[in-house]
Amino acid sequence: MSAVSTALAQNIVELARSTERFHFALSGGNTPRTLYALLATDFRNEIPWESIHLFWGDERYVPQDNAMSNYHLIREALLEHVKINPSHIHPIPTNFDDPDEAAKAYEAVLKSCFSTSWPTFNLVLLGLGHDGHTASLFPGSPALENRNRWVIPTKSPTEPHRRITLTLSALAHAKQIYFLVTGADKTDALQRTLTEGEDTPAARLLSRRPDAVFWTDEAAARRVRDE
Ligand code: 6PG
Repeated sequence: MSAVSTALAQNIVELARSTERFHFALSGGNTPRTLYALLATDFRNEIPWESIHLFWGDERYVPQDNAMSNYHLIREALLEHVKINPSHIHPIPTNFDDPDEAAKAYEAVLKSCFSTSWPTFNLVLLGLGHDGHTASLFPGSPALENRNRWVIPTKSPTEPHRRITLTLSALAHAKQIYFLVTGADKTDALQRTLTEGEDTPAARLLSRRPDAVFWTDEAAARRVRDE
């Protein structure tokens, strides 16, 4: 996992340096922890932190100090170790009674950051679940059919069930989309996602953005390479 995370960190340095303002939507989950730690340590002095604006691709609907929060993960792994303008950090709010109000509030934040008809993040970093989900877009979810919202509440089959996620359309308009997928436990999900005709959420995004880049390790890519 560290070799691919190191290569990805170096690539993110180059992307961040290539623009005045780098709008970066982060992934939650465990896989990117190594990447975030590298950005906070080995690569800390390479990144132009003053031009970085951080967003979240999805969030578990729990308080920010809850260990299952993606904000909590990224604060511990990255934010506490780098000098980034607090006004450039845009976590998804989870303090509304109604998750849909939180989703609408985050959509308003995004619309204040992007003057375009859809958010055009410089980079969206995504993970891949065993069932082919990405962000918090899960198989069979009505959220996959939403064509006009940028941010919506969804339900996860695993705890915490309540989630907030960017929609496929919001993700699909990014300038660059990266999936970080590592480990033998992701072999099947990766192979399915890259197989024509598969209908997982990640495959749906890939069909809209065939230029999405998969950053993987040997273990995760074993089935794909053998094809
Ligand atoms: C989350 C993520 C989710 C994650 C995948 C993979 O909130 O958990 O956004 O989409 O990327 O579930 O998770 P792992 O990296 O922990 O395997």
